Amino acid sequence: MISNKIDKGLIGSPKIPGDKSISHRSVIIPSIANGITEVKNILKSEDVIHTINAFRNMGVEILESKENIIINGKGLNSLKGPKSEIYLGNSGTSARLLTGLLSSQKFNSLITGDQSLSSRPMMRIVNPLSKMDAKIETTSGCLPIKINGQDLKSTDIEIKIPSAQIKSGIILAALNTKGKTRIIENSVTRDHTEIMLESFGADITTYFENNKKIIEIDGKKEFNSNKIDVPNDLSSSAFFIVASLINQNSKLKLSNININPTRNGILIALEKMNANISYSNKRKINNEEVCDIYVESSNLKGCELDSSIAKLMIDEYPILSIAATFASSPSVFRGLKELRVKESDRLELIKTNLLKCGVKCEVRDDDLFIYPSSKYKINNEKITTNYDHRIAMAFAVLGSKIGPLNICDSESIKTSFPTFVSEFNRIGGKIF
Ligand code: S3P
Repeated sequence: MISNKIDKGLIGSPKIPGDKSISHRSVIIPSIANGITEVKNILKSEDVIHTINAFRNMGVEILESKENIIINGKGLNSLKGPKSEIYLGNSGTSARLLTGLLSSQKFNSLITGDQSLSSRPMMRIVNPLSKMDAKIETTSGCLPIKINGQDLKSTDIEIKIPSAQIKSGIILAALNTKGKTRIIENSVTRDHTEIMLESFGADITTYFENNKKIIEIDGKKEFNSNKIDVPNDLSSSAFFIVASLINQNSKLKLSNININPTRNGILIALEKMNANISYSNKRKINNEEVCDIYVESSNLKGCELDSSIAKLMIDEYPILSIAATFASSPSVFRGLKELRVKESDRLELIKTNLLKCGVKCEVRDDDLFIYPSSKYKINNEKITTNYDHRIAMAFAVLGSKIGPLNICDSESIKTSFPTFVSEFNRIGGKIF
């Protein structure tokens, strides 16, 4: 895919798809609830389709119309042993959440994924589940994994890595485990699982103790279906927000965007960088904070972010790095260890691809330094993405400013944002 420099600004109201994290949970939670759940505006991307197929494989009836699905849930123990292996493609969220859910079901299952997912660490979810007596066999700590489902024991579990996927996997295991499981989260991560389970009436309580978040689940308690309206995805919006900030004469409106405070680090960071962003129509849908975002071309300045904000915006560093490239002063983003174990080693790919384009930057330990200048190499440069959707979209945005850039293996964009290119071109982009 070639991303070309644009001649006019980006103007309009691109349609941002439903939130990926909430979409996964909108399949998983209704599938173990009692009754019919109608889910509106679900993201129909490859990752979410893998989650939908996994539940069909376990006997759940899921009907689809354009952007909606209807799920006929029959309770915590209604899932059937899968007819075949559960193949999850590129989706780390599906893999970690389903490992937890399936470890407390009474059947065995085999989870597999594509090459990238099969190299991502699974012990981070297997180790805490083992404390609940889960029986899981990994392939050298990765997929394929065999789960020997059985009754687990409830206990206290402290989560040391800041990861909503780990937390959510344990919550899902605990729902079908007798007694009280207490999860102690050292640093707060996205809380979509807790919010959705509360709205379904599940027996889950959250509170803070000594600056740590505690999540208590009283297991083996059935809960009922509910309606879900999935808000649009801030992580997908971020590519459009930054594209309009760095390109002159741009003005965008992004509607119905989820701004859950456990996910909004990118907005805080961009505001620190002097971005012209405003918010209107703030409201709550299914207890998730939502608003419309207005953004205009801006004179950005660099900023320093410490590691404490990383968990609030872990998926946004590739696109934030593109914003930093066009700031009037250097930026440093600290504590990015987790970026190394995403769909690719994102820290490495941000650095090597920026260097290819002539942007001075360096990685020291887990910190990223970007030194903007106005000298770029623009020669149909080949951008390596290692099939990582967010690297591909971030560098497509860079292409809109200094292109042409040749983005390799860009088909990965389908995992989270199938309409990215058409929406980008609709507002003035030139990606072919
Ligand atoms: C997600 C959690 C994050 C994020 C991923 C989606 C989720 O991963 O990077 O894209 O939906 O729970 P970690 O929990 O590994 O940080």
